[in-house]
Amino acid sequence: MKTIVGTSAEDAAFWLSQGEPVALPTETVYGLAADAMNTSAVEKVFECKGRPKTNPLIVHIEDHEQMRSLAFVDGAAADLASAFWPGPLTLILKKKDCISDTITAGSRFVALRSPRNSLFKEVLRLLKVPLVAPSANKFKEVSPTTAAHVLNGLGGKIAYILDGGMCTYGLESTIISLADSDPKILRPGPISISEIEGVIGKVTLAFNADECDNAPKLAPGLFKKHYSPKTDLVLTSNIHADYETSKNVAFVFFSKSKAAYGDNCFYLSECGDLFEAAHNLFDVIQRLDSGLWHKMYIELAPNIDIGIAINNRLTKAAAKD
Ligand code: TXA
Ligand code: MG
Repeated sequence: MKTIVGTSAEDAAFWLSQGEPVALPTETVYGLAADAMNTSAVEKVFECKGRPKTNPLIVHIEDHEQMRSLAFVDGAAADLASAFWPGPLTLILKKKDCISDTITAGSRFVALRSPRNSLFKEVLRLLKVPLVAPSANKFKEVSPTTAAHVLNGLGGKIAYILDGGMCTYGLESTIISLADSDPKILRPGPISISEIEGVIGKVTLAFNADECDNAPKLAPGLFKKHYSPKTDLVLTSNIHADYETSKNVAFVFFSKSKAAYGDNCFYLSECGDLFEAAHNLFDVIQRLDSGLWHKMYIELAPNIDIGIAINNRLTKAAAKD
């Protein structure tokens, strides 16, 4: 299949209306979207990504009204949606019957998110149906933050990529489960834990690797190893001590000011800003994964706010099988 890269929300909506998966920009990462009400279109998303059917998909919606039509909404869910939607927060809620088991992998709960990206919103407005959208990468690979990343991973497998430039946050949404009376953060992301606690009070953190690899899993797709480049990736909290002038080992410093001089030195943020570092993270990993480098060292971020999400993705990217 020939993959077209374009900037037309109408063209994207056309292919989606034909039951074809389309890559769409969101404010977090690019998503591989399909009509959530069309099961064969949803199945194509699993096929394109090589994703196991046991790993459920997030449903992207326009507004609170659509949320109430797809799931049972309690006070905490309504408060979180009012505070952070449209935006990078996914809520796991008890599903209504109109959501298929294919989407939720048989679970009684569905993940819902209302994205902020204006092109994605335009497509939702044109189609008037909810859209499933996992990150638009092959299973376990690095999430795409540009149309070029999507083309690199899924070119030839999908009809259309809607190019909205580089994603604002560069990291996937924060996921919170409201499945029972104890709210649990399943994936850290751009909306910080303290921002969430500011709205609904204390939450449980359920995203460290050990918990995620224990059965039964809270989020079936949150594997210990994920976001993996082909190049060996080593995490370090003391990059200066590890630094060597080797020609084929790359060193990624958190900020430019800390970067040692050398052609093998890179950085995540010019001025040490956590949001800028998150925005650049997957792009830097994909660029260094070109085959030129034998190994990449990456410095961990300060473990606060979105830095917790950066370190979570880095830990999974560095995990061995
Ligand atoms: O920012 C994002 O959330 C991006 C953009 C495209 O919206 N999407 C995204 O989707 O990251 P994906 O499929 O790559 O990651 C979603 C995670 C998976 O680990 C999946 O297992 C979990 O959410 N998930 C989805 N539905 C779930 C459900 N009903 N119960 C528990 N976990 C669920
Ligand atoms: Mg993903």
